[in-house]
Amino acid sequence: QTIYLSEYRVPAYLVDTVDLRFELFEDGARVHSTLAIRRNPESEEGAVPLELDGDSLVLESVALNGQDLAAGEFEDRGDKLIVASVPEKFELSVVTWIEPQNNTRLEGLYKSSGMFCTQCEAEGFRCITFFPDRPDVMARYKTRVEADKSAYPVLLSNGNPIESGDLDDGRHFVTWEDPFPKPCYLFALVAGDLVEKRDTFTTCSGRDIDLRMYVEPRNAEKCDHAMDSLKRSMRWDEDVYGREYDLDIFMIVAVDDFNMGAMENKGLNIFNSSCVLASKETATDAAFQRIEAIVAHEYFHNWSGNRVTCRDWFQLSLKEGFTVLRDSQFSADMGSDTVKRIEDATLMRTAQFAEDAGPMSHPIRPSSYIEISNFYTLTIYEKGAEVVRMIRTLLGPELFRKGSDLYFERHDGQAVTTDDFVKAMEDASGRDLSQFRLWYEQAGTPVLEVTDQFDQGQGVYRLTIRQSIPDTPGQADKKPQHIPFALGLLDEHGKALPLRLSVDEQDAPTERVLELTDAEHVFEFHGLTEKPVPSLLRHFSAPVRVHYPWTREQLLFLISHDPDGFNRWDAGQRLAVDIIQSLVGQPKDTPVDPRLVTAYRHLISDSALDQALVDKMLQLPSEAYLVELASDADVPAIHAARERVLKHLAIALRDDLVACYRRNAGDGDYAVTPEQVARRSLRNTALAWLLMINDEEGRELALRQFREADNMTDRMGALRALVNSEYEADRDQVLGDFYQRFQADPQVVEQWFSVQAASSVAGRLGKIHDLLAHDAFDWRNPNKVRSVVGAFAGQNLSGFHAEDGSGYEFLADQVCRLDDINPQIAARLVTPLARWRKFAPAYRGKMKAALETVRDKSGLSKDVYEVVHKSLVD
Ligand code: ARG
Ligand code: ZN
Repeated sequence: QTIYLSEYRVPAYLVDTVDLRFELFEDGARVHSTLAIRRNPESEEGAVPLELDGDSLVLESVALNGQDLAAGEFEDRGDKLIVASVPEKFELSVVTWIEPQNNTRLEGLYKSSGMFCTQCEAEGFRCITFFPDRPDVMARYKTRVEADKSAYPVLLSNGNPIESGDLDDGRHFVTWEDPFPKPCYLFALVAGDLVEKRDTFTTCSGRDIDLRMYVEPRNAEKCDHAMDSLKRSMRWDEDVYGREYDLDIFMIVAVDDFNMGAMENKGLNIFNSSCVLASKETATDAAFQRIEAIVAHEYFHNWSGNRVTCRDWFQLSLKEGFTVLRDSQFSADMGSDTVKRIEDATLMRTAQFAEDAGPMSHPIRPSSYIEISNFYTLTIYEKGAEVVRMIRTLLGPELFRKGSDLYFERHDGQAVTTDDFVKAMEDASGRDLSQFRLWYEQAGTPVLEVTDQFDQGQGVYRLTIRQSIPDTPGQADKKPQHIPFALGLLDEHGKALPLRLSVDEQDAPTERVLELTDAEHVFEFHGLTEKPVPSLLRHFSAPVRVHYPWTREQLLFLISHDPDGFNRWDAGQRLAVDIIQSLVGQPKDTPVDPRLVTAYRHLISDSALDQALVDKMLQLPSEAYLVELASDADVPAIHAARERVLKHLAIALRDDLVACYRRNAGDGDYAVTPEQVARRSLRNTALAWLLMINDEEGRELALRQFREADNMTDRMGALRALVNSEYEADRDQVLGDFYQRFQADPQVVEQWFSVQAASSVAGRLGKIHDLLAHDAFDWRNPNKVRSVVGAFAGQNLSGFHAEDGSGYEFLADQVCRLDDINPQIAARLVTPLARWRKFAPAYRGKMKAALETVRDKSGLSKDVYEVVHKSLVD
């Protein structure tokens, strides 16, 4: 059941047009499909049988050129509909019956809070009708939707509405036509009782685009932020990538039950409610920023994904990597470049590096898979984006833009490969990227070992960089990759030194991007009078690990002197990691290096510093990151060491924290600007730290902030601080108040669940069981599952890794339970267990045993099967 890239064949048949008619009812839906099919001239297969994909369909009839086929003329195998003999060109009509109301997998057509909606990527269209469900079959769609008019007044599909009217029995219909050929994974349909929010956007060529959002009536006031984000995205894509929107209408729909964040269906984007709806009272700053990024991401797909799509699912990163890069450039432009880079690098180093070092490690262009849904990963998305970013770094912004223009022009309307993308970049720039292509083929995080030496006599500083790439499942002995390595050198006063690669180089720059291509390089920098402090891998110029024997003195120096904001932050992280690591497993009274306190005091109290950067620098490396860096990780010991440092800092800086809180209190009218976001985050960090040390004044500040907050960032900041404190009575009080106030709002209830489940203080296993039994919990809603089970196993690490193994057994039980409801979500949830090899022997065995109970479940989905089996093979 493994699918291999090497077995790719062009489709034997092509579909030119798809004519769909949906009859939607409460007990099911009838789907009438008429396909105009012809033999693919590019295929060498000739007059082979026609094979269409299907899943969970009840076939009612099949007709060829209008003639019903008799029983012997076709075969319904369930997952395939086979018509043995077909002419070169013909029309095939298929009628199927499906049950959206019972579809808990949320793939294909399903119901969410009373509305019909679809999710077809990657292979959901086959749950709607029999079809060649692969992205290189592109067709023009016409879709007629029929439903009860009072229950489903709004009927939507891709493209433009061309006809509508009333039918018998209180029913009505709308017909939509999409002029752009598309793969079936971009098909969408929505039917419901929704309110419409309208706006317009005038494109660079003067066309007026109708922008519409459709949400449940109770969410009518939560659309403005997404709509504004959409307009900013449309303008930005014109300005930065020269991409204009193509249809006359662009629609966004919010649904509560959704497996992922959102989906870029042509002209009709469908969003998880939590990734699109916001008001200052109900959404945090982080949610506002996430919504802006996801709205942009889906919109950008219109070019990078829809106009130019993927040939097959091995090419997923073609659209996802490029589009993530585009949305991260957009977010950087809307806010702070340095802060966005810190966030992206943190996600890479914490979660993607872990994935790449685990059992599911795969290259950004995988060569095989069992279930493609398992490959919507941090590797495909985030590492994929880093790889495209490196191309941009190597080519420079102008040539990169030339390359992207060429790519869009050359491949518009086509389904292509990552190699076509790289080729366009090569052709536009004249650069040879053949070695660079290894980034697409080899999995694993490259490691750079950096050493240096200063030759006083010659004034030469020598930097030696050795590259190695660890073995990953199915891949050993890797070749060196082409790595852009940005660096600077600082003198003892923090002055940036010119980087002279030869003795006589004039006007040398103070930052360079070195290109690593060999297993070892030695770079010589000339004309220096003293040994410099290196600032390495600036801006995280490549997704690699850098090892260099930094002394704590050097890190402290970089924290205050590196002109590169990203590397100042990075130095702070490295220092904190070093100090925390040195305390893991040590007696409780082992002293904490006092220089950390000094550095943090300086950060907190110097208001002349960029406060957004200070806010990031104050965050200690997460437990997840410390675990990722460890081998044979002992999570409770890591947790204890980190807490120890946190409390030590909080005690030493107590007065500074109170002052920081007061200095940053109140910001006038709420707005999600980088300045305000930093202020709120700083004061909430101060609060959290004060509560860690049971500070009475901190407690009062938190309680007052909780009561008086006019926005969710502050209310949640206070709630989180109290939930993670030892003020148990206050904790129960504020949790109760919060629920009372927001119980009608599912997105806020999800936050309420996760703040508890993620807490090492409040989220004990007994509490987690209570949350699962809570009225508001629903196994069929992925957001609820993620906010309790996902938050517990993914964020409450010391709870999950309880020494008796109870956390593991708990997770295994929930995965088994969920596997029958929604395999995609079950396969995501099992990930923390699948990484069992990472942990200390005492934990490993119990994790493995829990995994084995999942493996032995009867009727295991292939989603979960793939993850569990890959993690158990020797
Ligand atoms: N293409 C969507 C996005 O990145 C994600 C769709 C994920 N679907 C899935 N079945 N895993 O915006
Ligand atoms: Zn995407």
